[in-house]
Amino acid sequence: MTVDCRRVATPFDPTGGRPGEVRFFLPGPVWVRDAVRQAMSHEAIGHRGKAFADLYARILPRLRRVFRTDGFVFTTTSAATGLWEAALANLMPARVLALVSGAFSERWAACARDLGLSVDPLETQWGEPVDPSAVERALKRSRYEAVTVVHSETSTGALNDLSSIARVVRERSDAFVLADVVTSFAGSPVEPDLWRLDFALSGSQKALALPPGLGVAFASERYRARARERSRCHYLRLSEAETFAETNQTPYTPSTPHLFALDVQLDHILAETLEGRWSRHDALRRRVERWAEQRGHGFVAPEGARSWTVSCLRPAPGLSSEALVARVKERGFTIGGGYGKWKGSTFRIGHMGDVDPASLDALLDALDAASAEAVA
Ligand SMILES: Cc1ncc(COP(=O)(O)O)c(C=O)c1O
Repeated sequence: MTVDCRRVATPFDPTGGRPGEVRFFLPGPVWVRDAVRQAMSHEAIGHRGKAFADLYARILPRLRRVFRTDGFVFTTTSAATGLWEAALANLMPARVLALVSGAFSERWAACARDLGLSVDPLETQWGEPVDPSAVERALKRSRYEAVTVVHSETSTGALNDLSSIARVVRERSDAFVLADVVTSFAGSPVEPDLWRLDFALSGSQKALALPPGLGVAFASERYRARARERSRCHYLRLSEAETFAETNQTPYTPSTPHLFALDVQLDHILAETLEGRWSRHDALRRRVERWAEQRGHGFVAPEGARSWTVSCLRPAPGLSSEALVARVKERGFTIGGGYGKWKGSTFRIGHMGDVDPASLDALLDALDAASAEAVA
C-alpha cells in the first residue's frame, strides 16, 4: 500500500540521479552516492605534498560551514569512538557527568571509565530525552569538569535538547560541554558556536553519507587551550592536529580516499544547502511518523523528542521486529534491528544522508508487505 505523502517532491535530488533506488536504511553506515564512491578511487597522493594540502585547504572551510562555526574543525582517520576517547583524553577532566539515556551514551561513559576518569552517570530512562533541569540539579550537587551528552541517541531514536542542556551547563558551571553529534550532524540542526559547545564529534558513515572510517570534529577555543596543557593523547592529540592544520595537513597518514570523498560530498551538501538538508531529514522523519501511526507501530521516543535521522519503533501488536527485519531483507531492503537491551523488541529505520522520499516510500511499502509474514 502506498503512503499518502508520496507526491511531495523534493527540489533537490540527494541521490545524484538515482531517486527511488536506495535500499539500505541502517542507522549507519548508510547508502553512498556513486559520485562519492568514485571519488574514493582517486590515484594515490602523498600526504605531505601540495596536492594534499590543496585538498585539505578546500575541505576545512566547507567543513566549518557544515559545523556552523568559525572555529577549529578537523578530521581523523578513526571511528567516532576514537573521537569519544579524544574528547576526554585531550581534556582529562577531574570528574565527568555522563548523561546516559541509551546504549551509546552508556558506552561513552564506559569509555571515560576506561580512561581512569571519575564518572557520575545521570541516568534517564531509555527512549526519554534528558531533562535539562535534572542536569541543573546534578550540577548543583557536585562540581564537574566535563559533561558528556549524546544529541541523537541512535539506540532509542530520542533527540536530546542539546541547546538547552548546553545552556544549563554554561550557566550553572564551568564544565566543558562534550557533545556526540554522530547521528544529528548534517541531518538536523547542530550549532556548536550558538550553543557554546566545547567539543562536537561525528563520523563519516552517518548523515554525511560517506563510507565509514573518517571522524569529523569541532573544538572550542577554551577547549583547545586546556588540551594544549592537559592532553594525554598521542594519536589524537589535538594540539598536533592544530599545528598541522596550519599548513593544511594532518599529523599522521590520513585516509586520503575518504578526504577525496569528503571533498566531493561537501559540494553536494552545500549545493543542497544545510537548511535544505535538515528539512529533507525532517520531512523523511515525518513520513515515518505518519506511516507508523497508520500501521500501529509505536515510536519509543515521545513526540517532539525524536531524532530526524533514525526512527526506533516497537512493532504493531502481533508482529515480531526480528521477523520484520528479516522479511524486509528478503525484499531487498536493509533496516536496523533493535540495539542493546532492545535488540529483540524494536526495529530502527535510518533515514539519513542522501535518502530521497521515493526510496523511503518504497521501503515503507516493503515493510507493509513484509508485515503480513512477520507475525510474532
Ligand atoms: C550516537 C552514536 N555515537 C557513537 C557511535 C559510534 O560510532 P563508531 O562506530 O563510528 O565508533 C555511534 C554508532 O552508531 C552512534 O550512533
